[in-house]
Amino acid sequence: MPGIYIETFGCQMNEADSQYIAERALSAGYSIAERPQDASVLVVNTCTVRDNAETRAYGRINHFKVLKAADPRLRLVVAGCLAEQDRDRMHRLVPHVDAVFGTRELVRLGDALAAWRSEYSEAQAPEEEERDLLLPLGGSADCITGAYSHLRAFVTVQRGCSYYCTFCIVPHVRGRFDHRPLGEILEEVRRRLDEGAREVTLVGQTVNAYRDPTGSADFSDLLETVAAFPGLERLTFVTSHPKDFTPKLAQTLGALAKINPRFHLPVQSGSDPVLRRMNRKYTVDEYRAKVAAFRERCAGWALTTDLIVGFPGETDDDFARTVALARELRFAQAFTFVYSPRRGTPAARWDPVPAEIGNARLRELVAAVDESVVAFHRAKIGTTVRALITGPSKKDRSKLAAKTLDNVTVIAPDAEGEAATPRPGEPWLDVRIDAAHRWGCSGTIVGRAARFEGQARRVAPPVVDLIAG
Ligand code: SAM
Ligand code: F3S
Repeated sequence: MPGIYIETFGCQMNEADSQYIAERALSAGYSIAERPQDASVLVVNTCTVRDNAETRAYGRINHFKVLKAADPRLRLVVAGCLAEQDRDRMHRLVPHVDAVFGTRELVRLGDALAAWRSEYSEAQAPEEEERDLLLPLGGSADCITGAYSHLRAFVTVQRGCSYYCTFCIVPHVRGRFDHRPLGEILEEVRRRLDEGAREVTLVGQTVNAYRDPTGSADFSDLLETVAAFPGLERLTFVTSHPKDFTPKLAQTLGALAKINPRFHLPVQSGSDPVLRRMNRKYTVDEYRAKVAAFRERCAGWALTTDLIVGFPGETDDDFARTVALARELRFAQAFTFVYSPRRGTPAARWDPVPAEIGNARLRELVAAVDESVVAFHRAKIGTTVRALITGPSKKDRSKLAAKTLDNVTVIAPDAEGEAATPRPGEPWLDVRIDAAHRWGCSGTIVGRAARFEGQARRVAPPVVDLIAG
């Protein structure tokens, strides 16, 4: 069976799109390859939100050139935001690419995969070793792999964004809001649960602005309806806009037991003049008030955010306010970025903050954010958390990685040799937390469960070889 290898850059929208591509490929008769050298079709699902993501995607597309040169039957496909943005010049920049599908052409990509399938039935991939030698070493983005990816379903509830923040390329490459009909969303959730999903993530650029185009349901109604699915174990969502955070949503979050206790609410800056120039549609005080309303209903939840430094015109005082806000609100996690000019957006035409100042500000902000992040992780030491497995740790395959309900990475030694024999039937790990780090927590697996609410089977702790140390 021909293999398809899918690499994903960027946000959860792209994760959701990659899952769609994988699903279409599986039903057309492909298998999911875990390595590019084992595939007949390579898909690079790209992101263009910052320059760095764009450069990395082009790096990967170039990286695959040797495989393509060695086997002309191999197809290299570029999908996602970069495909949308650079469609006209991609054939010039990377002529070895076979096909380009923009963010609104995923169905066409699925159809193309089905059409290409017959060409591969008799196809013989080059010797595996030969391909291993061909492919130069290099990093990779997240790839869709077999054993555990079905446990988490990313379900798109809305495409595009109509808010036009002055720094953001998303509305330009993905278009304005296009909310998906409620019935279609529910149908996909049902299908994913039938396929073994334990956790559903509802994704969109501003999910809390959701409006069912076929009825009157808003985002709270959507959450309630999805949470009522009998087979669903956990429900979560990204990303929300502060403007659309309502008392009704705070109440829904506090009331639905299946929703993961994690809320991502990007603030971007702690300075009103900067927020205004960013066209964020709220002030710092309004953001504070929303956080207070959220924390009242959802005590103990992880509040996470996105922050940008070095936005055009950002003064030392503006920046100091961002650092102060991060200290005040004590985020459980914050994704911090230096502003990256994006062609065609208003802010790209404004006077830039020098790169060295932007980079120094980023370092200072990261240090401030780290304090609350590590404190959040440290509070877990000594407790036992139930976390959904993601697979062997990428850095050390003798360990397993999992995510807690509040989205903290936990790593623990693989006492039962799972890296060799995956056990997705028991995907919930009970992990005793022994240590806290910037990136998450490490601990010891003490139990495993088939269901989130289920009884755990006890797992014997790994045997420590005292002689070897
Ligand atoms: N919809 C989300 C929201 O409510 O703000 C944002 C989606 S955006 C794809 C993810 C994050 O990337 C943003 O929150 C912002 O912090 C960051 N980002 C977007 N454009 C950027 C740019 N030009 N430079 C630096 N960071 C950027
Ligand atoms: Fe981008 Fe702002 Fe929408 S960050 S995705 S334009 S809310």
